[in-house]
Amino acid sequence: MVPVVERRMIVPNLHLLTVLAPEVAESARPGNFVILRPDEQGERIPLTIADWDAAAGTVSSVFVQVGASTAKLARLKAGDEIPSYAGPLGNETEIDRFGTVLVIGGCYGLGSIHPIARALTAAGNRVFVLIEARSSYLLYWEERLSAVCERVIVVTRDGSRGYKGHVTRLAEILELEGVKPDRVIAHGCTYQMMTVSRQTEPLGIKTIVSMNPIMIDGTGMCGVCRLTVAGETKFACVDGPEFDGHQVDWEEFLARRESYNPEEVEPLHRSGCASHF
Ligand SMILES: Cc1cc2nc3c(=O)[nH]c(=O)nc-3n(C[C@H](O)[C@H](O)[C@H](O)COP(=O)(O)OP(=O)(O)OC[C@H]3O[C@@H](n4cnc5c(N)ncnc54)[C@H](O)[C@@H]3O)c2cc1C
Ligand code: FES
Repeated sequence: MVPVVERRMIVPNLHLLTVLAPEVAESARPGNFVILRPDEQGERIPLTIADWDAAAGTVSSVFVQVGASTAKLARLKAGDEIPSYAGPLGNETEIDRFGTVLVIGGCYGLGSIHPIARALTAAGNRVFVLIEARSSYLLYWEERLSAVCERVIVVTRDGSRGYKGHVTRLAEILELEGVKPDRVIAHGCTYQMMTVSRQTEPLGIKTIVSMNPIMIDGTGMCGVCRLTVAGETKFACVDGPEFDGHQVDWEEFLARRESYNPEEVEPLHRSGCASHF
């Protein structure tokens, strides 16, 4: 059993979960993820590692409550125990001296880009971070991100902070900020990563995205996490989760991810969680 050190809502519907998992903390790298279960009957939930402390043996992720399993996670409190917490899984983010790197995060991605920005800065890159949210009250970890990059650029859909709009304005924002990235890395919701990739392709900027399909085993055995990249079938859990965003078949990816939606709604009604939405 894995003890929960902390679970708290950091902004509406987004939670920080920290557990005591010394073996995971010891080998965690930027871009890795874990697969956990909230209880013995629970589905497996993949979450990207947002931070870790090898000395304290703790590992943290930021998660958004979307369905029945993440609703169970959102009810955990310090001192509770969860039955399984496997990781670190997946390939780590490629960290090299690329020059100027723009790291983009939305939703849970504001947390999961943190170790990536930190490692890229430590490797000698000029790192800019762009964070996007529906409104200013959904932004978090801005100070933590500022500490590991040259500048944080904020975009809110309602204009309550930073640039008004969406990453569809990316080319214009880069121009206004005077930032010319050699590489872009994006984590968060699928729509945002797809939009970023479509914006950067005509600009010729290599763009890495962290794909988040439905997963079961996380070890390349079940095939559930498959996607098409550059015309080839890949498994996000072992070949990714990061891929070249210009090579991903986004339409197929979105269609596959939504294929279980009717089944996912049923447990919400059974558990009474549907009333939370
Ligand atoms: C490698 C990887 C890393 C991930 N990292 C994080 C993370 O750090 N934080 C985080 O909050 N989530 C992350 N996810 C997504 C997370 O695993 C899912 O949101 C979660 O499993 C949903 O479980 P649920 O039972 O609560 O929702 P479900 O009942 O399974 O789904 C509810 C709704 O959410 C949608 N949904 C399901 N899976 C996803 C998904 N992968 N992405 C977007 N929408 C989805 C469904 O289509 C449905 O509409 C990651 C996924 C992968 C594969
Ligand atoms: S989750 Fe089973 S193959 Fe990737």
